[in-house]
Amino acid sequence: MLRILVLHGPNLNLLGTREQSIYGSQSLDSIDSGLTRLAEDLAVEVDIRQSNSEGELVNWIQESGSGYQGIIINPAAYTHTSIAIRDAIAAVGLPTVEVHLSNIHQREPFRQHSHVAGVALGQISGLGPAGYLLALRGLHEHLSTRRKIKKPSGGSRRQKSASR
Ligand code: DQA
Repeated sequence: MLRILVLHGPNLNLLGTREQSIYGSQSLDSIDSGLTRLAEDLAVEVDIRQSNSEGELVNWIQESGSGYQGIIINPAAYTHTSIAIRDAIAAVGLPTVEVHLSNIHQREPFRQHSHVAGVALGQISGLGPAGYLLALRGLHEHLSTRRKIKKPSGGSRRQKSASR
């Protein structure tokens, strides 16, 4: 079974009460429940964690190198400051989807640069809580396709014709 690590960065524990006009009214628990339900539908395992500490996030990313196949991360404010989180993602080399509830590209200039984007498979920004669900679907699709390519089913040696 595919195992995906979902990381929420600093202040995301306050979702639901924090700056609702920007981040909406959904709590982190409710976002996590939605992710867990979708994971069950997709038959993947999600391990969901939140931390306000950069070092803890770095440790978790490092540890994900064994036992996990992908990462979904909203690094929150560390998006814009943390070369350490970027380096950890690059070091483990797992396909990583970066998620932001708000559209960081429409916000203050200091939020418009992401250190993580350059090492991410992709970024979803501005779609609210749905962004996490789309990230899980996208990562699942990416990993499933890659698995099929890596492990062709045994027996038949027939190849699909490339001609149209
Ligand atoms: C955020 C955007 C960041 O700029 C901010 O620091 C956050 C949340 C988002 O999800 O929109 O804490 O990552």
